[in-house]
Amino acid sequence: MENSEYKRLKALIDEHLLTFLPEIDDKSGTLLEAMEYSLTAGGKRIRPVLLLGASEFCGADAKLALPYACAIEYIHTYSMIHDDLPAMDDDELRRGKPTNHCVFGEGMAILAGDGLLNSAFETMMKDILLYFDDPKEIRKRSRALYEIAKGSGCRGMIAGQVADIESEGKTCTKELLDYIHLNKTATLFIAAIRAGAYLGGADSRKLLDLSDYAECIGLAFQIADDLLDVCGDEAQTGKAGGKDCQHEKCTFPSIYGIENAKARLSELTDKALEIMAPYYDEAELFTDLAKELAVRTK
Ligand code: IPE
Ligand code: IPE
Ligand code: MG
Ligand code: MG
Ligand code: MG
Repeated sequence: MENSEYKRLKALIDEHLLTFLPEIDDKSGTLLEAMEYSLTAGGKRIRPVLLLGASEFCGADAKLALPYACAIEYIHTYSMIHDDLPAMDDDELRRGKPTNHCVFGEGMAILAGDGLLNSAFETMMKDILLYFDDPKEIRKRSRALYEIAKGSGCRGMIAGQVADIESEGKTCTKELLDYIHLNKTATLFIAAIRAGAYLGGADSRKLLDLSDYAECIGLAFQIADDLLDVCGDEAQTGKAGGKDCQHEKCTFPSIYGIENAKARLSELTDKALEIMAPYYDEAELFTDLAKELAVRTK
């Protein structure tokens, strides 16, 4: 991403990502290695950048939101490790590197995913406990944790992943496609931005606008991901192409065709820009991000 704010926040996340991991004893050295392997393999860090950006946009110091930003990247990374497993999408390339199970074996990849998921909640709870005598801070932080738990859970990302694998090889309706995209991808974008907004003490107008914006770019993001699977270049995406068709996945291009998918992507981007327009330059991180995601090649 070219936006300088994006780069600044991404650098902050990259600098701190490993520092919030709980101490792991030597006997579990392989677990730590496997977790760190996927965390440091690269990645755009969109969700944690959204979280930090929203917290600053609503008036907080981004550094104070870092435990939550890192936690959401742990959750995203765990979901990718599990998504790539032979029992799910069976992928061998992620972020330009062999997938976790190809390096560490299936058992360790499952455990590395579990470890990252638990570390996310341990990291956030540890931060909340620092404020045990400040009810206002506890409330903001607990709200942020709740948004992340809900968005990544059985009413969010996991529900989307369930529908995604269950729809393989079946006739996919438009309703089902919307359900999959909203849950498997957009909910984590929404959770990231709402968590940041709560940490920043957002008013209800900003919370609503940011949530609507995140839904639009989250949906647009998955359409772009589906398009890249068809027309993308492995060297750029760091993932093998053509996998959705091979697994007969329910995707936007498979139902609506490439041109309609592109049109919907641009419609959602326009809507995201429209939502943030009243904030002018203050929302530049968000508007630049929406524009860049619409033309992304990775
Ligand atoms: C990939 O997410 C999974 C989808 C929801 C499409 P990203 O494209 O954000 O993956 P990284 O973190 O940059 O590798
Ligand atoms: C993955 O969607 C979404 C989640 C893990 C929640 P995809 O299966 O399309 O992601 P890629 O293409 O493997 O990155
Ligand atoms: Mg998948
Ligand atoms: Mg996949
Ligand atoms: Mg995909």
